[in-house]
Amino acid sequence: MAEKKKSRLKKLVLVGGVGFVGLLALGYGGLYVAAQAQLNRDVTAPEGDLALRDGDKDAIARGEYLVKHVMGCGHNDCHRADFGGGPVMDQQPIGRVYAPNITAGEGSVTKDYTGKDWARILRHGVKKNGKRALVMPSEDYVTFSDSDLAAAIAYIKAQPPVNRESLAHSLGPIGLLIAATEPVYAFDKIDHNHKPAEVKRGANKEWGQVMAGTCKGCHGEGYSGGKVPGGDPSWPAARNISPDEATGIGKWTFDQFEAAVRKGQRPDGSTLHDAMPWKMYQGMDDVDLKALWEYLRTVPAKPAGGR
Ligand code: HEC
Repeated sequence: MAEKKKSRLKKLVLVGGVGFVGLLALGYGGLYVAAQAQLNRDVTAPEGDLALRDGDKDAIARGEYLVKHVMGCGHNDCHRADFGGGPVMDQQPIGRVYAPNITAGEGSVTKDYTGKDWARILRHGVKKNGKRALVMPSEDYVTFSDSDLAAAIAYIKAQPPVNRESLAHSLGPIGLLIAATEPVYAFDKIDHNHKPAEVKRGANKEWGQVMAGTCKGCHGEGYSGGKVPGGDPSWPAARNISPDEATGIGKWTFDQFEAAVRKGQRPDGSTLHDAMPWKMYQGMDDVDLKALWEYLRTVPAKPAGGR
């Protein structure tokens, strides 16, 4: 009798176990399907064109500054310092998210890009195959004029071609969850009717608004910070850079702002995490930094974390 009970119990545990594994498999399958549906969704971007400035000396010089100290195309784990690409992240359970080769070499995805293709990815966040780019922060660049974007492209194209294969993304369970549910597609965040004006560079808020476009991807549309969507999970939340006096930079002086942005030094003496690309902003010129300051002081104050 006791033996019978035991074996029945065993059976129950076994059936329960198989059921649980089955549920897990179903859940994972569902997640996989949901993520693939997001990754493979075809979208239509308004057709645009970008007047390329390839080979133009002034454009290359301007592009070098923008790429190295403002836009960060090759910064940290993005397209790499040689623009030949590499994994932005390659660790389970997120998996591999890959920034492709954007040089003129073999394996580059942009080798044959026309002005229309550049407009599609930079202005709208859409790849040549009509799918939305993942993690690529096109929304950060939409405030820049065509001539500035073309300058960045001219600089990248003037660098030595790199022959390196552009690997596909290969997502693990958490990567799939993020791809299925988080706002990690620039296409969904961009105002596709936005036509950036040709704003003159100067230490004023008009130019600052253009520059601050590059802070939005991390600090949020309202600059109040929060968890960075698609960012490395080990990163701290982006801080509040709106003029809120309690949690933002409302009581800061320009010198304190400069120390934070260029040296990663907070007013309390602590050092900012590398997720805030202050090493890249070290080379930002004074006009641009002042412009950012002038603009950020005019945005509505918001409590931290509201993005
Ligand atoms: C790739 C993401 C990213 C980008 C782009 C970025 N930031 Fe940050 N920023 C962060 C993170 C994350 C922190 C918080 C770091 C920490 O707490 O150590 C931060 C912190 C700061 C701080 C410190 C605030 C405080 O209270 O200490 C300032 C100031 C700042 N950022 C300004 C800017 C400006 C201006 C731009 C655009 C020119 C910008 N950031 C672009 C991620 C980013």
